[in-house]
Amino acid sequence: KRRIGVLTSGGDAPGMNGAVRAVVRMAIHSDCEAYAVFEGYEGLVNGGNMIRQLHWEDVRGWLSRGGTLIGSARCMAFRERAGRLRAAKNMVLRGIDALVVCGGDGSLTGADVFRAEWPGLLEELIKVGELTAEQVEPYKQLNIVGLVGSIDNDMSGTDATIGCYSSLTRICDAIDDVFDTAFSHQRGFVVEVMGRHCGWLALMSAISTGADWLFIPEMPPKDGWEDEMCNVITKNRKERGKRRTIVIVAEGAQDRQLNKISSSTIKDILTQRLGLDTRTTVLGHTQRGGAACAYDRWLSTLQGVEAVRAVLEMNADSPSPVITIRENKIMRTPLMDAVKETQEVTQKIHDRDFAGAMVRRDAEFKE
Ligand code: F6P
Repeated sequence: KRRIGVLTSGGDAPGMNGAVRAVVRMAIHSDCEAYAVFEGYEGLVNGGNMIRQLHWEDVRGWLSRGGTLIGSARCMAFRERAGRLRAAKNMVLRGIDALVVCGGDGSLTGADVFRAEWPGLLEELIKVGELTAEQVEPYKQLNIVGLVGSIDNDMSGTDATIGCYSSLTRICDAIDDVFDTAFSHQRGFVVEVMGRHCGWLALMSAISTGADWLFIPEMPPKDGWEDEMCNVITKNRKERGKRRTIVIVAEGAQDRQLNKISSSTIKDILTQRLGLDTRTTVLGHTQRGGAACAYDRWLSTLQGVEAVRAVLEMNADSPSPVITIRENKIMRTPLMDAVKETQEVTQKIHDRDFAGAMVRRDAEFKE
């Protein structure tokens, strides 16, 4: 029987367990065996008990569970060729030549590098006497399929990543809670949300909660933003009678280097300029944990099923696919196209980042 491995890598996201469950069950349904690789790529590199067969009933109840039950890690060893050699050896010894990787763009890029190197890794393992040509013979082709698991929704080519809607729901719930206390005391709150380089969580939560002002990395504020923000907030409070003020800051929008835009500097502006009693709330990792919402259970299940289909239909010439969703349709996109596009967008954001933009602006001013 064909053996398909599944692992979760990078930051955990609600829905990862749903994806593993779907891969395991679809693999079994397709007359294959399913193997979980524990602790992300660490499990591949270390082998042994970290690669274990999962049966149909082993994943019962996993749909709703938060985090990742097979563990995740940001594995340094797999970034080195020596680590990937050990991983290849472990896979051949376990008879696994297909992998479904659920993670962010870094984890998926690692998977694609591994696939590209695979024939060379096997040759080297034979050369150094770690494996024989006979052992390697049935596993000449490595099939890799990506699933995008991340709360950040930061991958190009897909409308939603597994986990982003659960996280968004959690953020909205938290902001609703903050609203209650802000309303009671007529206070202002600056709420910092996750998202790494991407402002999706911040933007969506601002729209969904009717926040007063928002900072996202994709749209660095222009000169004079302090006045603009204060004017809007004053209007909302004085003319529209709002008792509470919420400003949302994406973590990637913060300019820590120059310390002009951060939750605490924004809080100081509101306090000093408007005399508004203001607090900051950093939601932190509560945004990442907890049960998957209905959408993530549905998405991870459909995409997990599609990942196994893709594994079984791939040939040596097909580029590794990533499973996406576009306009509500589950699709396959060449993995490296999606990663490349993502990196280009991130680079653009970096080029315009607050610190960079301000340093450049200062330099231009001097000239
Ligand atoms: O990518 C998910 C994410 O939660 C980001 O939003 C955040 O920047 C980062 O991971 C936090 O990473 P760590 O778990 O290492 O603190």
